[in-house]
Amino acid sequence: MIPRHIGLIMDGNGRWAQGRGLPRTDGYAEGLTALRKTLARAAERGVQAVTVYAFSTENFARPDDETTAIVSVVRTFNRRYDGDMKVTYMGDVYAFGEDFADSVEDIEKRTENNGGLHLNIAFGYGGRDDIINAAKRCCDKGEFTREDFEANLSGAGLPPLDLVIRSGGEKRLSGFMLYEAAYSELYFTDKLWPDFDGDDLDAAIADFEGRQRKFGA
Ligand code: IPE
Ligand code: IPE
Ligand code: MG
Repeated sequence: MIPRHIGLIMDGNGRWAQGRGLPRTDGYAEGLTALRKTLARAAERGVQAVTVYAFSTENFARPDDETTAIVSVVRTFNRRYDGDMKVTYMGDVYAFGEDFADSVEDIEKRTENNGGLHLNIAFGYGGRDDIINAAKRCCDKGEFTREDFEANLSGAGLPPLDLVIRSGGEKRLSGFMLYEAAYSELYFTDKLWPDFDGDDLDAAIADFEGRQRKFGA
């Protein structure tokens, strides 16, 4: 089975640039190029949705020039994208200023009726915050069934997160979709994100297809 929903933890952009003697910030534009190739292959393979981890709640601790570089790459993407993906966001996009939040609203509106791959971008997102926010909303409403809780997570409405891929050599989730990843298959590669491409995605999907999913049974 092709994974219905893939999570991409796009790690290793800074090291990719540093390894070439470039400023770390140069890694993010390259990262977007790698993402475009990977998404094109995902669409070709019939994947329904891809959630990409682009900025975590912990990444607010990064130096200002790094945050500015990442925000600038993503804002330009938001303004210029004209393909057939449906693009949505999850996370506190208002924390990056009005212009960025406006670019998010813009791309979400422009692409809402698109029939291609669903690209969900986690930006200013953290899995712990997301769980806490969903719990708060349930408390406020006075309804706390599992269904109510899950409907209040940012990933609600997306297909089950079948596969999580992390580039860059680290083997951890770093807060990515902590609730949704409970039974996701995990795939790690040492490749730095800007070096990742469609063939790497195919390798991850092939690995996924060889896994036996048991869900505890
Ligand atoms: C991951 O790349 C993307 C973000 C955190 C926004 P990094 O910037 O963490 O790159 P490395 O891991 O330092 O190489
Ligand atoms: C995870 O990468 C977050 C993103 C890819 C956006 P980090 O580089 O922030 O993760 P840690 O600090 O190595 O856990
Ligand atoms: Mg990193």
